[in-house]
Amino acid sequence: MTTPTPALACTGLTKRYGALVANDAVDFELLPGEIHVLLGENGAGKSTLMNMLYGMSAPDAGEIRREGWTVTLGTPTDAIALGIGMVHQHFMLVPVFTVTENVMLGAEVTRAGGVLERRKVADELRALSARYGLEIDPDARVDTLSVGQQQRVEIVKALYRKARVLILDEPTAVLTPQEADALFGVMRDLRAEGVSIVFITHKLREVLAVADRITVMRGGRIVGATTPSETDEAGLATLMVGRDVSLRVEKRVAAPGPDVLVLENVCVEDHRGIEVVQDLSLRVRAGEILGIAGVQGNGQTELVEVVTGLRRAARGRLTLLGDDVTRATPGHLLDAGVAHVPEDRHRHALIMGWSIADNLVLGRHDRPPFARFGLRRFAAVAENARRLFAAFDIRGSGPEATCQSLSGGNQQKVVLARALSGTVRLLVANQPTRGVDVGAIEQLHREIVAARDAGAAVLLVSAELDEILGLADRIVVMYRGRVVSEVDAGAATRPALGLAMAGGVGAQGV
Ligand SMILES: Nc1ncnc2c1ncn2[C@@H]1O[C@H](COP(=O)(O)OP(=O)(O)O)[C@@H](O)[C@H]1O
Ligand SMILES: [Mg+2]
Repeated sequence: MTTPTPALACTGLTKRYGALVANDAVDFELLPGEIHVLLGENGAGKSTLMNMLYGMSAPDAGEIRREGWTVTLGTPTDAIALGIGMVHQHFMLVPVFTVTENVMLGAEVTRAGGVLERRKVADELRALSARYGLEIDPDARVDTLSVGQQQRVEIVKALYRKARVLILDEPTAVLTPQEADALFGVMRDLRAEGVSIVFITHKLREVLAVADRITVMRGGRIVGATTPSETDEAGLATLMVGRDVSLRVEKRVAAPGPDVLVLENVCVEDHRGIEVVQDLSLRVRAGEILGIAGVQGNGQTELVEVVTGLRRAARGRLTLLGDDVTRATPGHLLDAGVAHVPEDRHRHALIMGWSIADNLVLGRHDRPPFARFGLRRFAAVAENARRLFAAFDIRGSGPEATCQSLSGGNQQKVVLARALSGTVRLLVANQPTRGVDVGAIEQLHREIVAARDAGAAVLLVSAELDEILGLADRIVVMYRGRVVSEVDAGAATRPALGLAMAGGVGAQGV
């Protein structure tokens, strides 16, 4: 049996960013009509590789072949002409344009904008979306669409341009589990029609669900190739990280104490005055982890801002250990033992150009033990860094190196280490492991459970269902600013949570 000519292949593909080798002589083959998963931790080089195969960035060395022919891809237009389509991690749609207008943008359409032409394109999109069950309205303005719908627009756009190779860069990161399953259905239909698909993900469950073949990248190199029948989640994790990792969070049954945080009928408005959190009530007890599940953008961010004092509630009441903190400032809450792991560590948690040691005392750098009488106490800062480096297994060249020099996972360890280094009554962790590799996730999860076991109340916000299911003792689902469901973690199932996240009836409907 001969192997078919790959639909798309590369050999020796190399890309450098300064001293960093983002892709180091990568060989990759996508066979006709297969779903090929490209798996790797954050920063492994997956997007870099695919951007080169889509003409978005130029390789420093190596060769690309389309159906056996060596090609040069100067721009995405070259790739599109060769039947290669890509849906990026961050969509590239114009919000104020309709679906049809977006598809026509940049495509080779004569008399672009003409009414007849537009109608013709819209009809074709309707036909395409019906054929693949993609369900989009060609006349809808993109800014009225959900993230999942926008993603379907990107896929239809590629299909409209006759893509026979489709690259999907982490498409499920923004989807509910049901939407992800629907996408897998679309991918299988496309495969049945001979479309070859590269599916990038770091979610192990998804890999096993859809892959025909799997290629694993680590540190800019291909480190393994396998198939779902030859491996399992643990095997994939080991390949991805380069060592054995535990995927289960080890934790005892929670022994909750008194209420630490209580929210009563809290309403929060965004900058436009629109209520993004509506009449929300919840309580978190000492020694328990309350998980807030939900698709991003359903009010979780604003909820966290209110709980940490960064935003004022428009109505309602917050109490912390019995004290009214509805109008408390972030500083006051910090002093009262509220630790915060913010959603965006780059913008809100770390000063990238400062040393790790300085970042580890940020917020407390001007008070004892790190300063006395306005003078910095270098020994205390260094001692603090030494202790937290060891306790949190921070891997970097040392406390004096900048945060910039750390990997994402180690940066997040710095954030969590600092948050947990004082007396913590309430830990508010928002997407604590987003963009963090599997190995570091293991460590971060252990530390969160340890904080719980030391008696802290933990409010965990995460868009990753696996994280919620693995860590939380109790789970609430937020949808459009409201709690639509509440369940004990032991009774929670993935489908029920997914349904609630999509706005369906909650597991114990409210
Ligand atoms: N435009 C760029 N400039 C500098 N470094 C980059 C750029 N794009 C990616 N990198 C770096 O290249 C490495 C691989 O990144 P990427 O391909 O995005 O990884 P992945 O998609 O697997 O998460 C990372 O260390 C990243 O920081
Ligand atoms: Mg990427």
